[in-house]
Amino acid sequence: MTDDVLVVHGGTPLQGQIRVRGAKNLVSKAMVAALLGETPSVLFDVPRIRDVEVVRGLLELHGVKVSDGADDGEIVMDPTNVESASTDEINVHAGSSRIPILFCGPLLHRLGHAFIPDLGGCHIGPRPIDFHIQALREFGAVVDKTPEGMHLSAPHGLKGAKLELPYPSVGATEQVLLTAVRAEGVTELRNAAIEPEIIDLICVLQKMGAIITVHTDRVIEIQGVPRLHGYQHKPIPDRIEAASWAAAALATKGEIEVLGARQQDMMTFLNVFRSIGGEFQITDDRVARAGVTGAEGGIKFWHPGHELQAVALETDVHPGFMTDWQQPLVVALTQARGLSIMHETVYEQRLGYTDALNQMGATIQVYRDCLGGTPCRFGRRNFKHSAVIAGPSKLHAADLVIPDLRAGFAHLIAALAAEGTSRVYGVDLINRGYEDFEGKLAALGAHVERL
Ligand code: EPZ
Repeated sequence: MTDDVLVVHGGTPLQGQIRVRGAKNLVSKAMVAALLGETPSVLFDVPRIRDVEVVRGLLELHGVKVSDGADDGEIVMDPTNVESASTDEINVHAGSSRIPILFCGPLLHRLGHAFIPDLGGCHIGPRPIDFHIQALREFGAVVDKTPEGMHLSAPHGLKGAKLELPYPSVGATEQVLLTAVRAEGVTELRNAAIEPEIIDLICVLQKMGAIITVHTDRVIEIQGVPRLHGYQHKPIPDRIEAASWAAAALATKGEIEVLGARQQDMMTFLNVFRSIGGEFQITDDRVARAGVTGAEGGIKFWHPGHELQAVALETDVHPGFMTDWQQPLVVALTQARGLSIMHETVYEQRLGYTDALNQMGATIQVYRDCLGGTPCRFGRRNFKHSAVIAGPSKLHAADLVIPDLRAGFAHLIAALAAEGTSRVYGVDLINRGYEDFEGKLAALGAHVERL
């Protein structure tokens, strides 16, 4: 445990430039999509994060040859010889990520059967997979849940279906896409998630030969095709990581330019950032102005130098405010004058991390009611899913244990904003989704060291 501790000397504004690469929540899915092709796929700008390693390991177990390409961050996936893996080998990955559930459709198409281990991922609520299983059954899959995991087969092949999700789940929408593209006939998915990462996955699948139409009102239609080939793709940038660094700039009274961040994926975040008083500049246009080839733009975020203002907001599916932006931003909101409200409507238990912020001097109360916005599906189910943040509060150092990925980054920001020296335990969890965060902290002038 001791080498998994970061000592953070807080109170210094973070200043400088860092770069984000391909979005974790697209890259991992695009890697699964490579399984569906009959020829190799190439993915660029892949970040070095734990979730990518997990998917790479699972692909390799199933006979996909994964190698590094010529450029930094380029990977080549050759699925020519897809093969079965033993449950024991697959189970090595049990509990490490939620991505394995997305192997169902591609493995059923390639092998006629699949085994999915117990899932992992962040502990931010029960995170059921009922929508996934229901959809797979409607395609004709036989799903057998056993204590060791889930066995699937498709004795009569997979056939297109008319589906409607009870909630626009990102994962379930991806499950349907990855299954329907090679199912026989047409699939219509209603109440689909339409996050930018999903649209990017659709772009990947289209490059592979799929026929997918995104209609208005969350309806996606997929016309199954008998075979797909490999793709070459540069992923959408990581808008969650970009927002995390933006929140860090605000909370530490600093200025961070996030190279690679893209305005169009972050408009909702940028509106909120501006309402709080944060300043930003889109720096990609400067490239055109200067005519510098190879120069890269992004978004520069900084603290305005005067007091921040409280806001009321709620998390939601796209185009709403992302649930993964919530935790880092709440740290910045502890520094805003007045009462801010954060109503979490995507996950029922994603505010537990606020206890640690209170320990550090924040004043945050969590409530079971739907505060500040429209009632959500958790309002009557006894979940503490609304937070009221009273600010500004002076944060002081503390010993913190990282609970999950995004809350972990929020803890880190709080420690960087606080006066004094904090110890942050379990920081390796942050490597699941933030590439080289320690290198980036150093580049931004943070005073941190491993214990
Ligand atoms: C993805 O999770 C992301 N993970 C999450 O990011 C992100 O928070 C989430 O989408 C929402 O944007 C990955 O892409 C790997 P969901 P996913 O299915 O697909 C309920 C991060 O930190 N639900 O959209 O698992 C579910 O419980 C992670 O990068 C069911 O009830 O999320 C939740 O309340 C954390 N039954 C809601 O839907 C199901 O079968 C949304 O979940 C599936 C979901």
